[in-house]
Amino acid sequence: MERKKIYDTRLISRSDEEGIADAAAAIRRGEVVAFPTETVYGLGADATDPQAVSKIFEAKGRPGDNPLIVHIADKSQIDMLVRDVTPAARALIDAFMPGPITVIMNKSDAVPDIVTAGIGTVGIRMPSHEVCNKFLKLAGCPVAAPSANLSGSPSPTTALHVMNDMDGYIYAVIDGGRSEVGLESTVVDATGDVPVILRPGAVTSEMIDEVLNVKSEYAGALKPGEVPASPGMKYRHYAPRCEVKILTLPQDIGDIDPESDDLDDDKKQKLFSVASPFILEASKIIKDRPFARIGIYAGSEVVSLFRKAGDQILLSHCEFYDYGKTCDVKAASHGLFDGMRVLDRQEVDVILASGFKGSGLEVAYMNRLSKAAGKKGEDVPSAGFDGTQIRISDIPLDMFNNVFTASVLFISDEDLILGAYCEGIMTDLIRRKGGFCSQDDMNTAAELYAESAGLAAEDGYAPDRKACDVFKAKTGSDISHHLSRRAGVSVYDANDLILTINDEQAFGILNAYPELTGKVYSLSSYMASKGLVIKGDDGRVASVSLTEPSEDDTDACVHTVSALKAWLEILFPYIIKDLGARRFC
Ligand code: TXA
Ligand code: MG
Repeated sequence: MERKKIYDTRLISRSDEEGIADAAAAIRRGEVVAFPTETVYGLGADATDPQAVSKIFEAKGRPGDNPLIVHIADKSQIDMLVRDVTPAARALIDAFMPGPITVIMNKSDAVPDIVTAGIGTVGIRMPSHEVCNKFLKLAGCPVAAPSANLSGSPSPTTALHVMNDMDGYIYAVIDGGRSEVGLESTVVDATGDVPVILRPGAVTSEMIDEVLNVKSEYAGALKPGEVPASPGMKYRHYAPRCEVKILTLPQDIGDIDPESDDLDDDKKQKLFSVASPFILEASKIIKDRPFARIGIYAGSEVVSLFRKAGDQILLSHCEFYDYGKTCDVKAASHGLFDGMRVLDRQEVDVILASGFKGSGLEVAYMNRLSKAAGKKGEDVPSAGFDGTQIRISDIPLDMFNNVFTASVLFISDEDLILGAYCEGIMTDLIRRKGGFCSQDDMNTAAELYAESAGLAAEDGYAPDRKACDVFKAKTGSDISHHLSRRAGVSVYDANDLILTINDEQAFGILNAYPELTGKVYSLSSYMASKGLVIKGDDGRVASVSLTEPSEDDTDACVHTVSALKAWLEILFPYIIKDLGARRFC
């Protein structure tokens, strides 16, 4: 389905009463608005207006073959939407609404076919989210909404996730903060005597059975620990682009502070039992695939032990998402979709994720995680999910508490063509892959820069026109404003990472300023420090070897731009990691 960018999508803050009223008015006019709920964000339209509902499918980029849930602000709206309320449905509504449950009932004629994909039942949901409730009340109509993700990507649990997928395609996004539950609602078919759980969620089968005093049935969902036998179309939702591998936690370790100095042997053993599978698996992956990058979706105990025990090379390949206490399935559920998105954004090849085996919420968590781990590949549209359309400048700064800046410096001899190329390519990468936040704190934004200087440079010379033309042709960017600059201690101090073109330059700087050890690398030694070793045909280690192209040698300029682009593209995730930043999501 063709997606058209036709909106200047409004991002409305939760305290903006006028904005929420405007979004509600837009719904009544037939527009699509994304709104927060306690489970995940929804992509809503007036459920009584078929034309409005069709816009949801356009924005989501999927055909309308899956029934949508109808969201209400008040239980009194139910009678108009359904033909009958069975005793089971009544009991579920009384016990769990408002809350993370969708109750399927026989639909009335007031619900157009496009909402339910032509079937005779409709799912009704009343979220328990203050901002959502205010919005639905103001809208006045029942609001049909699927999760607000682009088809194929994980459900959104923050307004920025929605912006990443929907910016330009819908009227507005209401920011209600992070979704508390983090997994979609429990879907229960209550048209018969015995409720059938179609999708597990935070309202668990145990809770339902207790209220209804029956044994509910469980259709279609995977049992905890079970991995889909034949991964197929069914599993393509919730999926990040990379491979996901589940490492089931062997035991409940309870509450252990991994930073504590006086851990007894039993506690140490427990910590080791949960962390070591991650360390072993990650090491194995790096051994087999030295260029692989690994995302770790795990609890704080695992992350902390991993950081202590992993060697530098292994750690440089790993990106961590710490969801909270390792054995707290609520925390793991809350963070799951954000974790999948954040790690995917760091361009990891594999995510190793904590798995749970058990009942209650663990069933819903494992259901979503197993789907993410199910094979995806070609099924998943990557367009838009890369998130490149959202830039730091588009993100309201009040979403961040702080901003820090960090920069990488490229050193050549003359800081003419090579310097301008390095700086230009890195600046392009930063712009293309932004925005960034602090590695440890997603509430701190990171502004990243690239600079260049030359050991033997004279100040104020521009690279030759021809060299600039080549760069423009190969990258689309203009570097003609570049002026050479002499390297020196003040330049080194002003930057956080220094990369030289060749080994001699790095040696030279470190000889003169030994205190810069750990901050200065040649491109080759930087790669080696990350275990990124490329062997040539003769089996010897290939190193980055570049010299300042002669300015009228177009071929040499073309070769230099291509080579630098290739190297810096590979090194980019490592560089931003060393700058203390990661891609924001
Ligand atoms: O938590 C949630 O349920 C979120 C928020 C936005 O409310 N919504 C959501 O919608 O997850 P969606 O469209 O991504 O998933 C709805 C699920 C689908 O698997 C759909 O097949 C099922 O509910 N469903 C909806 N109506 C149904 C019906 N009448 N019969 C059977 N399944 C239905
Ligand atoms: Mg969905």
